[in-house]
Amino acid sequence: MTENPTFNFTSARADFPILSTKVRGKPLSYLDNGATAQKPSVVIEAIERYYRAENSNIHRGVHYLSEQATNAYESARGKVADFIGVSDPDEVIFVRGATEGINLVAHGFVETLLEEGDEILITHMEHHANIVPWQIAAEKTGAMLKVVPVLDNGTLDLEAYAALLSEKTKLVSIVHVSNALGTINPVKDLIDQAHARGIPVLLDACQSVPHMAVSVAELDCDFFVFSGHKLFGPTGIGVLWGKRALLERFPPYQSGGDMIEQVDFEGTTYKGIPGKFEAGTPHIEGVIGLAAAIDYVNGLDRSAALAHEHALLVDATEKLSAVDNLRIIGTAAEKASILSFVIEGVHPHDIGTFLDADGVAIRAGHHCTQPLLKRFGVPATARASFAFYNNFEDVDRLVQAVVKMQRFFG
Ligand code: ALA
Repeated sequence: MTENPTFNFTSARADFPILSTKVRGKPLSYLDNGATAQKPSVVIEAIERYYRAENSNIHRGVHYLSEQATNAYESARGKVADFIGVSDPDEVIFVRGATEGINLVAHGFVETLLEEGDEILITHMEHHANIVPWQIAAEKTGAMLKVVPVLDNGTLDLEAYAALLSEKTKLVSIVHVSNALGTINPVKDLIDQAHARGIPVLLDACQSVPHMAVSVAELDCDFFVFSGHKLFGPTGIGVLWGKRALLERFPPYQSGGDMIEQVDFEGTTYKGIPGKFEAGTPHIEGVIGLAAAIDYVNGLDRSAALAHEHALLVDATEKLSAVDNLRIIGTAAEKASILSFVIEGVHPHDIGTFLDADGVAIRAGHHCTQPLLKRFGVPATARASFAFYNNFEDVDRLVQAVVKMQRFFG
């Protein structure tokens, strides 16, 4: 297999210092990008620069450094807005990650929009972060959780989706790309169908934004969440974007400093969005690192990177399919570069441990999608997830390690 000639994966790889690390004396093939992506030098340097030269609290000081830090933080908000294709930076809320973003929306729905008998529609392929907050919201309000089934190939049952939308549905909350299967959902169509009935849609874009350009303006969803660490940025920072009219209806999710207008013992008034949702000193270094990650990603030829990742997926799928007793879980035609598999008679954790001895890092487990894996009759899978900095040698090392393991276990 030759590398995609339009994509310079060698120079992209050199941007990520950790990729030249040796693990257990072997070169590293990092194939756990779905869990967290590696960080380019520019992100690491931006965080270091912040602490060396700009560290200060934001929105609070009149001094030079505070002004610098505030400008960096607020200009990152504008950068995120541009990155996801929205025009109003105030609709961008910095949160800890997609999980906190979904919890914030669920809290807002509990407080303002959900009533007994209402329905929240999710899918069978959601991450626990897009299941549990809605279960809790349903328990608190008497609303019901409805679930769109998944077909054997790992795509959504679209007929069931259409049938499950009703006048009782108050929100559709769906994943763009499944972290466990790789399936890319036809979200534009799903959003249009929900909107035709006046139902807002939350899109979990954690596993899509690292792989493809995603435009909120084009999709016209109502809420959008992603995590910085999967987009080559730091951990502990993520984004919730929401339409102003909806966010303004929600009460604060947390309270404290920097989210108020005026505090008296008789009562308190709050800032508007986004400040209302950013109580306390925020993750300033995280926001600065995320901005650097977005700059880095914007500098990539994203369609070439996507084509390269797709070629890696196709190569790995073809080669692993030829391995005896190996079953791929998730065989949708439209997939991001995520490849889940099981091998008869070998626990996925043993696969993960065996591969690690050869320097191949994959994830093994339920991927926080227990209902989905139950649907496929397995408690766990081994999962290789590729980024644009992976190459065909990584695929070959994965396949060779799997074949070696097969021989070992007989
Ligand atoms: N949700 C992340 C994953 O899929 C952690 O691995």
